[in-house]
Amino acid sequence: MDHYRIQGGKALTGSIAVSGAKNFALKTFGAAIIMDGPLEISRLPEIQDVHRMMEIMETIGAKLTHGDHNNKVIVDASDVSSSDLRETKVGKIRASVLLIGPLLYRLGKVQLQHPGGCVLGKRPIDLFLDGFSKLGATVVEKDDCFELTTSGLTGGTIVFPIISVTATEALMTTATRAKGTTVLKNAAVEPEVVALAEMLNRCGAKITGAGTPTITIEGVETLSGTNVDCIPDRIETATFAIMAAATRSEITITNCIPDHVEALLALFERMGVPFSRTRDTLTIHKYDHVLKATDVRTHEYPGFVTDYQAPMTVLLTQAEGLSMVHETVFEGRLFYTDLLTRMGANIIMCDPHRVLVQGPHSLKGRVLESPDIRAGIAMVIAGLMAKGETTIYNIYQVERGYERIDERLRALGADIERITD
Ligand code: UD1
Repeated sequence: MDHYRIQGGKALTGSIAVSGAKNFALKTFGAAIIMDGPLEISRLPEIQDVHRMMEIMETIGAKLTHGDHNNKVIVDASDVSSSDLRETKVGKIRASVLLIGPLLYRLGKVQLQHPGGCVLGKRPIDLFLDGFSKLGATVVEKDDCFELTTSGLTGGTIVFPIISVTATEALMTTATRAKGTTVLKNAAVEPEVVALAEMLNRCGAKITGAGTPTITIEGVETLSGTNVDCIPDRIETATFAIMAAATRSEITITNCIPDHVEALLALFERMGVPFSRTRDTLTIHKYDHVLKATDVRTHEYPGFVTDYQAPMTVLLTQAEGLSMVHETVFEGRLFYTDLLTRMGANIIMCDPHRVLVQGPHSLKGRVLESPDIRAGIAMVIAGLMAKGETTIYNIYQVERGYERIDERLRALGADIERITD
């Protein structure tokens, strides 16, 4: 099995450029289906989730033309002819739910596997199904799938009972081609939602309020193609910043938007992590004092988002005192802390949503398995900090979201090898 082998304990140095955002890139493919012309996507991260999304797009009949390098693709969805997602790789990526609405608009019918069959993981899709019903779709739950049909989408008011990034994006995108006005209330305000709205507006969509909890969409008759640069990945930015702090390294993160990681920087100030920033770079400075413990509570953007939680918990193992980490967004996103305990951290799970981290405790290298994308990268950080050798299996999870991570970390002086078996 492919794995990473890391010799820890080395300080890193240099600069690292952030890739295009996975959580923006994936959404552009759904949007391409409702456009009347091709969409050229640049600064596409070369990650497994994007590969899976491109495979799904080809399965349903879209034509993809790759640029000179893998970070550019032109998506021409004019020949999309299938909306049966049951046999595609939707189970591999949650973001494929972004295809439901656009396919419903184009073909009037969509079938997708029942998420109860673990197809979409544990994360439910009720908000999507309720939302599409409000836009005029009929949703039927069959034994093995959901079937959505419509004879024409119409605008409506959708009040989300909880804030969901992907549901906001899916309904905003689809409503662009629904007749009349759609209002989304309690919408997500992530930078990726704003970037998606800006891209659609450049094509002729009429979306206002993206980036606020109320988004209004006037349906339009035509929507041209366009070209778009994926915005910098704020999760990578935060991850690299935490990695620098955890290894006491001097690292400059370039091609990023530090304004998108304000909640992390506020915690860095409290803990004593020294940093400086410009409009598009973030430098974490080397330090030799002990960090202070701090409590972390995940929250929708612009709060401290759940995707930074696992790397941050690794850093907290080095902070003096007791830190409470409270994961409020997803179930089961703290079970990886077991692995840190095996490495020597002192972490007590209070309940599935809360752990107490007592620091500082040095970590020792171990053989680990990456549990998921964000906990996986957290294990890489832990390996870089730990004394001795760490081996990480199940690296597909890490590579779902982080482009050529071993190579980029080696350029900073990390002792990490990717071993292919
Ligand atoms: C997106 C991001 C992910 C990030 C998460 C929270 C993408 C591809 N993924 O995931 O990296 O961790 O936002 O910032 O953009 N929920 C329901 N019913 C639904 C949909 C969601 O109950 O139909 C719940 C989820 O279980 C979760 C909460 O809503 O508790 C938020 O999830 P959501 O924002 O939808 O996360 P994703 O969009 O899947």
